[in-house]
Amino acid sequence: MFETLTPKPADAILKLIDEHRNDTRDEKVDLGVGVYRDEQGNTPILSSVKKAEQWLVANQSSKSYLGSRGDAVYCDAIQQLIFGDAASSDRISTVQTPGGSGALRVAAELVLRANPNATMWVSDPTWNNHVPLLGEAGINLREFPYYDGASKGIRFDAMVDALGDAAEGDLILLHGCCHNPTGMDLSVEQWQKVADIVESQKLIPFIDMAYQGFANEVDEDAYPVRLMYERTPEMIVTHSCSKNFGLYRDRVGALCIVARDGGTVRTVDSQAMFVVRTMYSIPPDHGAAVVAKILNDSELRAEWLAELAQMRQRLKGMRSLLVAELEKIAPNHDFSHVARTTGMFCYLGVTPEQVARLKKERGIYLVDSSRINVCGITEGNVQYLAESIASVL
Ligand code: LMR
Repeated sequence: MFETLTPKPADAILKLIDEHRNDTRDEKVDLGVGVYRDEQGNTPILSSVKKAEQWLVANQSSKSYLGSRGDAVYCDAIQQLIFGDAASSDRISTVQTPGGSGALRVAAELVLRANPNATMWVSDPTWNNHVPLLGEAGINLREFPYYDGASKGIRFDAMVDALGDAAEGDLILLHGCCHNPTGMDLSVEQWQKVADIVESQKLIPFIDMAYQGFANEVDEDAYPVRLMYERTPEMIVTHSCSKNFGLYRDRVGALCIVARDGGTVRTVDSQAMFVVRTMYSIPPDHGAAVVAKILNDSELRAEWLAELAQMRQRLKGMRSLLVAELEKIAPNHDFSHVARTTGMFCYLGVTPEQVARLKKERGIYLVDSSRINVCGITEGNVQYLAESIASVL
C-alpha cells in the first residue's frame, strides 16, 4: 500500500528548526520559525504560566474527559479576550482547539459542511501553512494582492480592486494583527474600508488571530474582530495562544463562530462538536487550563499582560536596532521598512539566493521568502547580522 506514496518535501518553516539545531557554528542565528526568544536566545516559560501550572498541580483534582468543546471556562475567557464587551452575546460560540492550526482545520470542515463550493480569499502572501492547510481540506482558494516588494508596503488599492470580484458568501481570510509573513497591518481606516466591502458584497470575514498582544495591547489588537462583529452577521475567528502565552507545544487555540442569531449559532456549534468528535474527539487540556487560570485570576492576568508588553517592547527595540546597524554598515540600501512592521515577522527584502548564502556562509537561518523572525535578533548578534546581510547584498 505505502509504495504508492511519493516523498513530500519538508515544511519550509519547520525544516529550519532542525537545520539550525544541526549547525555547529557558534555564531549561528535562528530567524526562522515563529517563536519568541529573549535577549539570551531562549524561549522561556512565562512566569504567569509557571505559576498557573503550579496552581494546577496543587489543585487539579481529575484528568477525566471534558468533552469535544474542551474547557468551557477557557472558552468563555478567550471569547472575552477576543470580543471584549460583545463576548456575552448569544451570537457567538467558542470551541477549544489544538492550537490555531486545529482551529483553522475545524473551521474549514464547518465551512465545507455549510457550503461545499465555498471560496476563500487569502492575502498574497499569507502564512506558509494557510494555503496547504485550507486547500487540503478542500476549500477553493483565491488570492488578493497584499504586499508590494518594491515599495515595501501594502497594496491596498489593488487589494480593494481584487475583492471587487468576490461573490456573495465568499470568505475573506484576514490576519487580525501582526500579518505573517510581512508584519504589515492595515490601518484603522483601511480596516473600515474592508468592513464596507464585506458588508456591501455580503462576504464572510474569517479572522486569524495568532498574535493578539504582539502589535499593541490586547484590546487594540482585537479591533478588527470587534469591528467586523458590529458590521456583519456571520464571522469566523481562529485564535492561538502559542505566542501570546508562549504555550507553543501545549497546543492551545480556539475557534469562535459568529452567526446571525442564537438559534443559528447553536446549530453551527453542534456541527462543530460533531466535526471535532470525528477528527480528534477531544482537545488536549493542560495549556487551556493554564490560560483559563491566568485570565480569571486578576494578579496572574496583570502579570501576564506585563510579560506580553515586555515581549512586544523587545521586538520593537530589536527592529530599530537592526535598522540602525544596517544604516551604518550598508548605507546605500534602505531597510527602514523593517521598523514599520509589527509582531514577529517582516520581509528582509533579499533574494532566495541571498537567503541561501546567509545560511551557508554565515549560519543565519530565515525562510526563503526572506521572512525573518525578529525575535532572533539580540544586542549581542545584531552587528554580526548586519555585517552578514551587507556581505550578500
Ligand atoms: C511561523 O509562521 O513560523 C509559526 O506560525 C510557526 C508555524 O507553525 O509555522
